[in-house]
Amino acid sequence: MADATELLDSGERLAPEALRELQLERLRRSLRHAYDNVPFYRESFDKAGVHPDDCRSLGDLARFPFTTKADLRQNYPYGMFAVPQDRIRRIHASSGTTGRPTVVGYTDADLSLWSDMVARSIRAAGGRPGDKVHVAYGYGLFTGGLGAHYGAERLGCTVIPASGGMTARQVQLIQDLRPEIIMVTPSYMLTLLDEFERQGVDPRGTSLRVGIFGAEPWTERMRREIEERFAIDAVDIYGLSEVIGPGVAQECVETKDGLHVWEDHFFPEIVDPITGEVLPEGEEGELVFTSLTKEAMPVIRYRTRDLTRLLPGTARVFRRMEKITGRSDDMVILRGVNLFPTQIEEIVLRIPGVAPHFQLRLTREGRLDALTVRAEARPDASQETRDAAAQAIAAAVKDGIGVSVAVEIVEPESLERSVGKIRRIEDLRPR
Ligand code: DLL
Repeated sequence: MADATELLDSGERLAPEALRELQLERLRRSLRHAYDNVPFYRESFDKAGVHPDDCRSLGDLARFPFTTKADLRQNYPYGMFAVPQDRIRRIHASSGTTGRPTVVGYTDADLSLWSDMVARSIRAAGGRPGDKVHVAYGYGLFTGGLGAHYGAERLGCTVIPASGGMTARQVQLIQDLRPEIIMVTPSYMLTLLDEFERQGVDPRGTSLRVGIFGAEPWTERMRREIEERFAIDAVDIYGLSEVIGPGVAQECVETKDGLHVWEDHFFPEIVDPITGEVLPEGEEGELVFTSLTKEAMPVIRYRTRDLTRLLPGTARVFRRMEKITGRSDDMVILRGVNLFPTQIEEIVLRIPGVAPHFQLRLTREGRLDALTVRAEARPDASQETRDAAAQAIAAAVKDGIGVSVAVEIVEPESLERSVGKIRRIEDLRPR
C-alpha cells in the first residue's frame, strides 16, 4: 500500500498543540450555538449555573451538564434542532428499544462533514479512490447505509448500495461485481459467511481486501475469525446517530490498535457511569461526546452509554478509544456479577466444535436470575465434541467471569441470523 501519510487531510496533519487550540475554539462556538438556539440547552446550562463564556479551557467542559437519551426523547421530534426547519436537509432516526425513536437532523454542512469523516474512515481502513465498496449496512432511517454510501463516494470510490438482507443475492453481487471493500455489521458478515459456504463458494477467494465493521460490539477474537475465514483485513468503525452516524471513530488498518476518534469534530470524554466524574486518560468508563462543528443538532456532553477507555494517538494525532466492551444497558447483572455479551463472545470463539453464533437467554428460577449460553454446534461436531464444548464454555465463564451459567449446544443453523445489528440477549424473565 502507498504511504498513507501523504493522503492525510488537513485535520489529520495537525500538530497536537494546534489540535487542542482548534478544539477549544470550536468548543466555545458549539456551546454558544447550542445555548443561543436550543431552549433545552439554555435551560440546562442556566440551571447548572454555567454560561458558554465560562469555557476557557478544554477542562472547563466538565462544568457543563450532561445530555442523555431521555433528554432527546423528551424533545422529540425536533426540539433539539438549532436551525430553522428549511435548513434541515435530512432526517435520520435510531430505533430505541423502548418508546419513541431518537430523531436527528443535518444541514448541508453537516452532511458534508459526515461524508468527509466517513471518507477519512474508509481511507484509514485502507480504502483508496477507485476501490469498489459494497455497502451492506441497512439504508433508510438507520445512519449506517447512507452514511457509508456518501462517505465512500466522497473518497472517490464506486459504491454498490446493497443494503441489508437478501443474503443469497449479496453473495452473488460480491462474486460478480468484485468489490475490494465491504461495510457491514460483523454479525451480518458471519451470516454472509454461512451463505458463501452454503453456495459452495470459497470465502477466501473473493475480491474483498478490507471489511469495515461496526454498529455493534465485537471482539478481537471475532476479528481473527473473520480475517481468517475471508482472508481480509477487518477493522472497526464506530459512531452513533446522535453524534452524526458512522465515522465518529475508526481503526487504522496499519495498526489495528483501537479506534482513532475524529476529535477535531467530536470531542470525547470518559466519565464514571455512576458519579459522572471525568476519568483520567486510560481509565475505563462511559464515553461522552460533544460535537464541535455540527449545525443542525449540536450535542453537548452526550452520554453514549458505551463503555471504553481513551488512549494516546498512534497512527494519527487523535486519541484512540479501545474497542467498545459493551453498553451499560447491555450489561447483565447475574447474581451480582457484571457480564457483557462480548466476554461470552471471546469464550465461545475459542472453544472447538462451536460456531461463532451464540445467544444469551435470561430466565428467572425462583428469585434468582439464570443465564443460559446457547451456542451453535459446528456441522461436523460429534456429540462428544458438543458435550466437551458445553463443559468448556461453562468452566471458562466460571473461571473468567466468576459466575455459573448453563450452556446449551444447539443444532447448526438453529439460532436466528443477523441481517443488521444482532440481538444477543433474549430476556425471558417475567416483568
Ligand atoms: O450504529 C452508527 C453506525 C453505523 C456505526 C454503521 C458504525 C457502522 P446507532 O444506530 O445510533 O448508530 O447506534 C449507536 O451502536 O452507541 C454503540 O452502542 C453501537 N456501536 C456503533 N458502532 C460500534 C462499534 C450506528 N464499532 C450505537 N463497536 C452506539 C461497538 C458500536 N458498538
